[in-house]
Amino acid sequence: MLQEIIDTFESRYQQQPVVVRSPGRVNLIGEHTDYNDGFVLPAAINKEIYFAVAPNGTNTFRAYAYDLQEEGEFDLGQVQRSEKSWANYLLGVIAQLQQAQYEVKGFDLVYGGNVPIGAGLSSSAAVECGLAYALNHIFGYNIPKFDLVKMAQMAEHEYAGVKCGIMDQFASMYGRQDHAVKLDCRSLDFDYYHLEMADYRIVLCDTQVKHNLASSEYNTRRQECEAGVALLQKHYPQVKSLRDVTVPMLEQHQEEFNPVVYKRCIYVVEENNRVEEACQALEQGDMITFGEKMYASHRGLQHNYEVSCPELDFLVDQAKEMDSVLGARMMGGGFGGCTINLVKLDALDSFIQRMEEAYQQQFGIALKTYVAEIVNGSSLVEPSQG
Ligand code: GLA
Repeated sequence: MLQEIIDTFESRYQQQPVVVRSPGRVNLIGEHTDYNDGFVLPAAINKEIYFAVAPNGTNTFRAYAYDLQEEGEFDLGQVQRSEKSWANYLLGVIAQLQQAQYEVKGFDLVYGGNVPIGAGLSSSAAVECGLAYALNHIFGYNIPKFDLVKMAQMAEHEYAGVKCGIMDQFASMYGRQDHAVKLDCRSLDFDYYHLEMADYRIVLCDTQVKHNLASSEYNTRRQECEAGVALLQKHYPQVKSLRDVTVPMLEQHQEEFNPVVYKRCIYVVEENNRVEEACQALEQGDMITFGEKMYASHRGLQHNYEVSCPELDFLVDQAKEMDSVLGARMMGGGFGGCTINLVKLDALDSFIQRMEEAYQQQFGIALKTYVAEIVNGSSLVEPSQG
């Protein structure tokens, strides 16, 4: 795949590119907490997008989307949203650079990869981060990595219309091989946790569905959380976000809440606690407790945050019946995409087979599964690797 992208670049544009890779991500625990100033525990995975890129000496950005076999040409003097939806993730990054007064000269790009689209593995963040990384390199901006992450996130807000938190772009850029990274989305401090995976594998079960309310419901959840914060601020002026809230604070004022908003808030507060507990379990090598936190996270997402769907619930229920699975939960925004499962290595094949059979029988859909390896964040690909 990588070599084909490089070859395509060379034959289309008659020059040698710089090559960058940028990964998708999993999130072990800490869902819908990032935009509430909470904690997340993602990791970058071996589903990646590759970028072959080089300046072209003009004022035009020429792009070829290898997977879609579509091309586009864009005037860098007037960057705006395009009707080609794939191009918006790229144009959004360029717009952010320009807004921050970086000069984006003409360049050529061929990109493509194997991050499944719509599966909740953050293919869009991988695209945004990869392009930001590549332009920072070829034009020598020297933009610190964290600022690239924020630009990538703002590209998603402004050009893709999803008011996402910072987790996906952070994970794509800051991933580290064999580690999960706990990010405090308020202070932006982060710590790497080694994942001792000798006996386990992270398996993703892809429902193959994406219910189309996903992005509108996402933005609604954000508003519901803000409504909860506004209510609590009347009693606790120091509360800036759900990060500052405890379960007793919520319980004390429960009757003042709209019941839906209450459920959203209790979920977020409990999920933040679960991330902390899950990290302690990781430190102690206690994967059993870690897995239990994953199941608890799913139940919260299912019943209180209400971002799951029958397909995801079915997969988690199936996993729960198997002794070989330590934990399972829906992952990402919800309403489809993947479940993440922590599976004992010696039962890997039988797990996959049983899940595929059960899903096929229940929904008549062929389940896709991926065994995720944990890799480094966005980086240059040295020529020898091409
Ligand atoms: C999407 C968003 C992230 C995060 C998750 C839910 O993946 O892009 O910022 O909010 O949903 O945890």
